[in-house]
Amino acid sequence: MTQPTGDAPRPSRRRVLLGGAAAAGAGAVALSGGDALVRSLRSTGEPPTGAEPHGERVHPFHGGHQAGVATPPQAHARFVGVDLREDVDADGVRRLLTLLSDDASRLTQGRHALADTEPELAGAPAALTVTLGFGPGLVERVDPRSVPSWLGPLPHFATDRLEDRWSHGDLLLQVCCDDPITLSHAVRMLLKDTRAFGTVRWSQEGFRRSYGAEPEGTTMRNLMGQVDGTVNPAPPDDDFGPLVWCGDEAPGWLRGGTALVLRRISMDLDEWDRLDRPGREDSVGRRLGDGAPLTGGNEHDEPDLDAVTPLGFPVIAEYAHVRRARSEDPDERIFRRAYNYESDAEGDAGLLFACYQRDPERQFVPIQRRLDELDLLNEWITHVGSAVFAVPPGCGEGGFVGQSLFEDRS
Ligand code: HEM
Repeated sequence: MTQPTGDAPRPSRRRVLLGGAAAAGAGAVALSGGDALVRSLRSTGEPPTGAEPHGERVHPFHGGHQAGVATPPQAHARFVGVDLREDVDADGVRRLLTLLSDDASRLTQGRHALADTEPELAGAPAALTVTLGFGPGLVERVDPRSVPSWLGPLPHFATDRLEDRWSHGDLLLQVCCDDPITLSHAVRMLLKDTRAFGTVRWSQEGFRRSYGAEPEGTTMRNLMGQVDGTVNPAPPDDDFGPLVWCGDEAPGWLRGGTALVLRRISMDLDEWDRLDRPGREDSVGRRLGDGAPLTGGNEHDEPDLDAVTPLGFPVIAEYAHVRRARSEDPDERIFRRAYNYESDAEGDAGLLFACYQRDPERQFVPIQRRLDELDLLNEWITHVGSAVFAVPPGCGEGGFVGQSLFEDRS
């Protein structure tokens, strides 16, 4: 039997990807993933050739922002909500975050975790990212004055059917990867770190198309068959940073971080199947085939919300999802990075609607209020889980994610 004897061999040749940390953001950041990218390429002296197995691809762990937000979405995701034990105090939180950051910094770079009993499973990082998020219960234990006003349960929406088993939590582990074995191993290693400090409250598995199944940059499809994610601020765009990264309005420790709203949204696919194709397209306001607006053009062309049919009805209906989700206020936008889910055991499938923003009260909530009031999609979808997490900025080498929370306190 192979015993861990130090670091597992690093992938022979690393194709270092432009990580989430690379996007410029609101708030001052000392490091950026852009720096990390350049350093890694120079230090190996081996620029990628494009012929490497995709398992060798690595996102930098250290940087001004945590990876896993602006990072191009990987094929698989696991979101795990952890409840801290009652006796875990600020010191305990610090120890837990140090352990998690250390192991995450190793696993994401293709090195095994410290107490890894299957070190070989860490050798193909496949674009692994580990993103930590804090619920109010964690922040309060370190410094009750540091809890941002928006960190807590969202207001109730009339169409909500939320279940506790998919909601809330003190700590979030968001682990994304292009390989399911690496993902499973990484989650197991990280959960070993949490065992002495808390218990798993929920675990949600998400997926997109397999890596390489479609050209990079193809907008994902959800399980209703729709092209989902077309109108979305993208990391290279100038407006991405100001919409997503917390700035001066946030407690100091969170600047350069973000807010994650995670909603588990169940789809009634059997009922959806009964609807004809024009009816399905009408409910969203876009074509199923290519995601183009019903007013014509291609996927990324602007919908004409004023266009009317010869009978004088709007081409994109008043109740269409895209009309209701859109705001005239350019600051009232979110970054969507959703995953599909399916649970055979429960006969349920839907969307793990993960979205990032600097302030959910000003961004997610008003959008969801409009959708809650009127959106034809509500006939087939139901929100069954809800959690909000403060995602702190990234850390430098030797530091740990959440360190700024402890520094703010002193
Ligand atoms: C299962 C639930 C949902 C499904 C199936 C769904 C599906 C879609 C689809 C197909 C589009 C059009 C393509 C695109 O631009 O991405 C869209 C757009 C959008 N959705 Fe959703 N969505 C869901 C839930 C939500 C929720 C909960 C929110 C936010 C509260 C939201 C916000 C948006 C926004 C902001 C857009 C872009 C609107 C625009 O054109 O400006 N969606 N969604």
